[in-house]
Amino acid sequence: MRKVLEGAIILPAYGTLGRWILNYFIREDTMSTRTPIIAGNWKMNKTVAEAVSFVQEIREALQGIRGVDKVLCPPFVALVPVRELLAGTDIGLGAQNMYYEEKGAYTGEISPLMLEGLCQYVILGHSERRAYFGETDEGVNRKIKAALAHGLTPIVCVGESLEQHEAGETEAWVSGQVRAALAGLTPEQVRGIIIAYEPIWAIGTGKAATPEGANAVIAGPVRGTIAELYGDEVAQAVRVQYGGSVKPQNIGPFMEQPEIDGALVGGASLKPDFVDIVRIAAEVKGKG
Ligand code: PGA
Repeated sequence: MRKVLEGAIILPAYGTLGRWILNYFIREDTMSTRTPIIAGNWKMNKTVAEAVSFVQEIREALQGIRGVDKVLCPPFVALVPVRELLAGTDIGLGAQNMYYEEKGAYTGEISPLMLEGLCQYVILGHSERRAYFGETDEGVNRKIKAALAHGLTPIVCVGESLEQHEAGETEAWVSGQVRAALAGLTPEQVRGIIIAYEPIWAIGTGKAATPEGANAVIAGPVRGTIAELYGDEVAQAVRVQYGGSVKPQNIGPFMEQPEIDGALVGGASLKPDFVDIVRIAAEVKGKG
C-alpha cells in the first residue's frame, strides 16, 4: 500500500495521465504474477571466441539465481555456440534483430525461420536499429508478427529522444510507438510479448532515467496504452523492462518500482556485472 500511495503522489508530476493512474492502483493484485526478466543486449560486441569464454565464465553463477528469467542476446554468429553452452541451463537465448520474411533474396538478413528453435527471444525495434538502419514502426510491427508466428518472444523497444523528453512529448511518442507495435495483434499475442522502455537519452550515456520517472512512463504510455487497446487484464500481464545505463549500482531502485519487471542491459551485460544485476533483481523482487 505504501507504494501505491507513493505512485499517486509521483504520477501526476509526470503529466496528465488520466485514467492511467487508475490502472496503477489495481496493479498490486497482479504484479506478483509477472516473472521479472533481465536480458543482456551485447550489441555488436565480442567475437565468437570471446562470447564462448564469457558465457563459460558467468554461466554457473547465473544459473543459480532463481525467480528471474535471464536472457543473453549475443550477435548472430555466436548464437549457435552460445546455445550449446546454455543447453540444460535455465538461461534463455535471444537474437538482437530479425527480418520478417521467412526466406528469399534479402542479402545479409536473418529470418524468423532461422531463429525458430535456435533461440527463444528476439529484440525488435531497438532505438539503434531505428536510428542507424531506418527501422520504422510499420517494419517493427511486421517483425513482431513474424516472430510470434515462429514461436519467438519479441522484446520490443520503445523510447523517446532527448529532444522529445525535454519538449514534454514522451507520453504521446511512447504511446504512439506502443500502439504501432501492437497493431493487428490479438490479446493472446500481446500477453506474450515483452516491452523494453528505453529512453534514448539514457542508452549508453551513463545517465539512467530516475526509477520513478521510468515507472511513470511504463504505468502510463506503455501499460496504459495496452489497457486502452486490450483491457487492464492484458496490460497487467505484459512484462515491461526498463533499459538505459543499467548497472549493479542502480538496478535495485529500478526493480523496487511496481511497474518495472526487469531490465534490458547493454554495456553492463558484457561483463560479470550482469550476474550482479540479475542477483540484485532477484533479491529485490523476491522481497515482494
Ligand atoms: P546500455 O544499453 O545499458 O548500454 O545503456 C541499453 C540498451 O541499449 O539496450
